[in-house]
Amino acid sequence: MGSLCYLSCVLIVSLLNPISCHGRAKPEPEGEHKALFVFGDSLFDAGNNQYLNGSMEGGGAISWPYGETFFKHPAGRLSDGRLVPDFIAQFAKLPLLPPYLQPIEHRFTDGANFASAGGGVLVQTHPGTINLPTQLSYFKTVVKSLRQKLGDVEAKKVLMRAVYLFSVGGNDYFSFYTQNPNVTQSYRRQYVGMVIGNLTSVLKEIYGLGGRKIAFQNAGPLGCVPTMKAMNPQLGSECAEEPSALARLHNRALANALKKLESNLPGFKYSIFDYYNELEDRIKNPSKYGFKNGNSACCGSGAFRGRNCGKNGTEPYELCSDPSEYVWFDGAHTTETANRQLAELIWSGTPNVSGPCNMKQLFGHA
Ligand SMILES: *[C@@H]1O[C@H](CO)[C@@H](O)[C@H](O)[C@H]1NC(C)=O
Ligand SMILES: *[C@@H]1O[C@H](CO)[C@@H](O)[C@H](O)[C@H]1NC(C)=O
Ligand SMILES: *[C@@H]1O[C@H](CO)[C@@H](O)[C@H](O)[C@H]1NC(C)=O
Ligand SMILES: *[C@@H]1O[C@H](CO)[C@@H](O)[C@H](O)[C@H]1NC(C)=O
Ligand SMILES: *[C@@H]1O[C@H](CO)[C@@H](O)[C@H](O)[C@H]1NC(C)=O
Repeated sequence: MGSLCYLSCVLIVSLLNPISCHGRAKPEPEGEHKALFVFGDSLFDAGNNQYLNGSMEGGGAISWPYGETFFKHPAGRLSDGRLVPDFIAQFAKLPLLPPYLQPIEHRFTDGANFASAGGGVLVQTHPGTINLPTQLSYFKTVVKSLRQKLGDVEAKKVLMRAVYLFSVGGNDYFSFYTQNPNVTQSYRRQYVGMVIGNLTSVLKEIYGLGGRKIAFQNAGPLGCVPTMKAMNPQLGSECAEEPSALARLHNRALANALKKLESNLPGFKYSIFDYYNELEDRIKNPSKYGFKNGNSACCGSGAFRGRNCGKNGTEPYELCSDPSEYVWFDGAHTTETANRQLAELIWSGTPNVSGPCNMKQLFGHA
């Protein structure tokens, strides 16, 4: 009787709401250890780019005032403090993940961070950074190391329980936009299709290696970052439309691609955090979220302080006295205070913000 009701309730719930995370996520023991693997761009790079040969992207993150708030020294992160994956690790009761390229003894049963400032899905985006296919090859090295250490069966368990967190795509569209400011809708769609196609291949490979739980921060309002506003002075403090339109196109395609993967791949579960709208609302209505300024960066020079944060010597830059009053720390990266707010939504946001699952559910803490 009980189980019959349970089955029909689940059936009714899943018919009414086919994308619900509830009723699909099997309850898992709260204390069970789960790894976090992080892929993507500068929003998630905990310092990998410091170890690249001759890369300048994100090199700024090794200079003052990056890191000033939390670490009290530059910590390879493009913010005054912690990034979203740092908070997520904390919520998941994991230690902060060091950058994968840092030459230390790593504990991959906790996960790894492969993200690289400037990195994109496509290999042609910002050569010299770690693109997503290269991040996937690093992940495969980690898989090998886990198998050697734990044996195939235990390694597979770690990989199946783990959560895979992504922030990627923004650089592909920044790069496309700066090279093609004026293209036809069909060319735009073709480019988005290429990005999503390559992204989907990477997700399928991760699934093939055991990965089941995928979390995405979608592409942000790219036309609203201070650097973009500074590039379009005719708009005043309005956002540039085209880069944001590309991001919206990408986000729709991403949602469709993940839905399709979920229906084709048994056990595949996912979360998409609506970074686009959450960040845009903070930019447009900063006081609603406790900020004083949503337009200009805390650190930088020129219009909207969109450039040169931390670039010592070449051009002077300004630095605000309290980064927590700002959404933006530099011309393209948010402050620790904004990152904490975003991470809390990724972790436990309602399905309209972080869905169909949120990360807390993916970690089985819900
Ligand atoms: C940097 O160069 C060294 C020496 O050539 C090489 O061993 C290392 O793998 C390179 N690092 C990356 C991240 O490509
Ligand atoms: C973009 O196209 C419009 C009209 O088709 C034209 O007026 C404008 O000069 C073009 N801009 C660039 C940067 O090519
Ligand atoms: C992946 O991107 C390349 C360009 O870097 C493109 O030629 C290829 O068609 C894309 N693959 C898919 C499956 O979309
Ligand atoms: C700029 O860099 C030099 C050399 O690293 C250092 O001595 C100086 O204090 C720096 N200036 C500022 C304003 O950070
Ligand atoms: C999402 O839903 C919650 C309540 O379920 C509501 O309070 C919140 O405003 C909604 N957020 C957005 C961005 O629609």
